[in-house]
Amino acid sequence: MSIAKIIRCTLATLVIGISVSGHAADAPTVTPVKVDENSFRCIRKMTPVRHFYVDNLLGNTAGTLAAANAPKGAIYPAGSVVQLVPGEAMVKREAGFSPATGDWEFFELNVDEKGTKIGKRGFADVNNQFGGNCFACHVPARDPWDFICESGRGCEPIPIDHKMTGAVQRSDPRCGEPVLESGDMVALWKIKTIRFIGKTKAWINSFR
Ligand code: HEC
Repeated sequence: MSIAKIIRCTLATLVIGISVSGHAADAPTVTPVKVDENSFRCIRKMTPVRHFYVDNLLGNTAGTLAAANAPKGAIYPAGSVVQLVPGEAMVKREAGFSPATGDWEFFELNVDEKGTKIGKRGFADVNNQFGGNCFACHVPARDPWDFICESGRGCEPIPIDHKMTGAVQRSDPRCGEPVLESGDMVALWKIKTIRFIGKTKAWINSFR
């Protein structure tokens, strides 16, 4: 190899080396959001926001709360967990993980005294126990509410009011004994009836 070639080679190696290390230093570090059954807990141990609860699997509950309380809406930070009832959850995955769903992963959970089991999980393909698609119902609230429906944000309403969701929260079996308020027994009974009707409808639809 001629001296000129050796010098060229060395320079090239140096340049590549510098650009590779420079690139590594600039690359944003994306902390993975690992979600398994241990990511979920007694709903009342999470942080209450109005009528629902939030958590953050990366320890950024302050960021999640700031988004939930932003008067004009905001994008929730990675790691956010949002739950209205113990059996359903939305978890914000790492940025860019699922652009179509705003990086939200949808979960259907089975809970009992022993803890949480993940029934279903996924992105635009998860349906609730009545055959309703989580994503399709939540997407009207995409902008500026980052898919969080609450009330008056364009989502198709659910037949369950906040008295009923409160009663379900107060009787989450993972929290120990239920701490019911007056009227909760009636609310729980109404939910059971609605569930029964909803499941029967879904069952009938499955034959169509
Ligand atoms: C029929 C439409 C519909 C379907 C299907 C649906 N949701 Fe919702 N969801 C709503 C509405 C409306 C609210 C707000 C209810 C309220 O607070 O009054 C809501 C509330 C929530 C909340 C509390 C935060 C918020 O958006 O207000 C979570 C979390 C949630 N749903 C998750 C899910 C998951 C997970 C699924 C699927 C397993 C699902 N939802 C399916 C309409 C739906």
